[in-house]
Amino acid sequence: MRHLPILLALSGILCTCAPAPEPPAEVPSLSELPLVPLPAEIEDGNESSYYETYQGSVMPSPDPTIGDAQRYLLGQLPDLVLPLQFDITDDLVGGAYTIHFGDGEIEVNSGTREGMLNAAKTLVQVLHFSGADAGAVYISEGTIRDEPRYPYRGFMLDVARHFFSVEEVKSVIDRIAAYKINHLHLHLSDDQGWRIEIKSWPKLTEIGGQSEVGGTSGGFYTQEDYREIVDYAGTRGITIVPEIDMPGHTNAALSAYPILNADGKATEPYTGTRVGFSTLDTDQDSVYTFVDDVVREIGALSPGPYFHLGGDESAATDHEDYVKFVNEVQQIIQRNGKRPIGWDEVATTQLADSTVVQLWAHPDYALDAKRAGNAVLMSPATRAYLDMQYDSTSRIGLHWAAYIPLDSAYNWDPAAQAEGITDDDILGIEAPLWSETVTNLEDIDYLTFPRLLALAEVGWTPQARRDWEQFRRRAAAHQEWLRAQGIGSYDSPRLRVTPSDTTASDAFPTE
Ligand code: ACM
Repeated sequence: MRHLPILLALSGILCTCAPAPEPPAEVPSLSELPLVPLPAEIEDGNESSYYETYQGSVMPSPDPTIGDAQRYLLGQLPDLVLPLQFDITDDLVGGAYTIHFGDGEIEVNSGTREGMLNAAKTLVQVLHFSGADAGAVYISEGTIRDEPRYPYRGFMLDVARHFFSVEEVKSVIDRIAAYKINHLHLHLSDDQGWRIEIKSWPKLTEIGGQSEVGGTSGGFYTQEDYREIVDYAGTRGITIVPEIDMPGHTNAALSAYPILNADGKATEPYTGTRVGFSTLDTDQDSVYTFVDDVVREIGALSPGPYFHLGGDESAATDHEDYVKFVNEVQQIIQRNGKRPIGWDEVATTQLADSTVVQLWAHPDYALDAKRAGNAVLMSPATRAYLDMQYDSTSRIGLHWAAYIPLDSAYNWDPAAQAEGITDDDILGIEAPLWSETVTNLEDIDYLTFPRLLALAEVGWTPQARRDWEQFRRRAAAHQEWLRAQGIGSYDSPRLRVTPSDTTASDAFPTE
């Protein structure tokens, strides 16, 4: 174990050393704090410990393993200084970490930058729910030992149906990072808009970037904008997963470059919400040159390992052509040093070894992927699609897959979505937010919260530790906190039921 105590441990030197006040009558045990997602293991101690907090500034460690977690804490709790020590512990790998509270000191252990960041996110919740924002604080002694169930926990934002500014995307990143979501999948192109500058094909944004659903003006990210998003996400422990959807969902590209279209004519911009009517011409060499240029340029801006090729709902592409195209595009992505991801229809092609198949509608395709030895990402539309309405009264959203009230977003097991698929086959889960009806951050918040809390816990917490009744109580505490931060979480009737009410879920008011 390498010890790297940090400046947050300065309080012993700087404190005024006034005697600790009497503890409040009730200091909640660590396991009583409403942490989301629920850590894998919490061991409560017998005492509570007093932590002096005071205003001050700290210098983050130059080692990013620790320094990034410190910067995250400073960003969340500016000027709050605590007796906090970070120790690099090599056997805590991946996202794993421990936090020990005791003897007036807080000790964080992990072997990785990711684990330290996860610990920082847990600490922010522990401190908030212990009242640390108000100054000195009592926290119960004990140890949190935590690691994620799946390495990939994602959120998808469709910036193609409606465009969202860099500032809006940054706000989304801050919100999802707090719940240990570590991938942001950006759906960067669709029939209604092309949203990222490609220097070798400039009309994609000059023409294809102007439209969006409903006929309002669209927009696009310059390469500098995209880099800014990538960097902002990275410092918060989030990897950007870029998606260019093809061969279908391509009208915006076809409206910009007639050469991509089988009849050689530019299509009209499209601002409706139908799917399945557009396709790249899979017979033309220039189409593969186009794909290679796009993958190369976006890939060079994306430090993460993945490139998402879409591949869904290509009803206007002959199946034989679809298979030929998706086979070739997987090779292009791999030649550009990336790992392909595709929506579940890509399992009908010759999957490349590294391709990840994202289940959204077809469990059988996920099983095909497993049989071919490929990893599966779980986004069943009936559970994980955040654009589905809560119930028939939801002010925005769709319901073609299902209504998804909060308990439905919570009460599912990724390993039970396709017969024969186990956790060993699953890379993780992702919660997509399609934006046909979503036009601004307020809309994003309404559909995302509180359901993202449920989905974050599905992806993080061991199945055996998950329990709807106790999640509901923790989520209610977070709903209040989210609102205090100005985040307009949907007022789910599932959270309004008080503990003295019945616990029978069928007695809940409908959403
Ligand atoms: C999808 O919802 N078409 C992936």
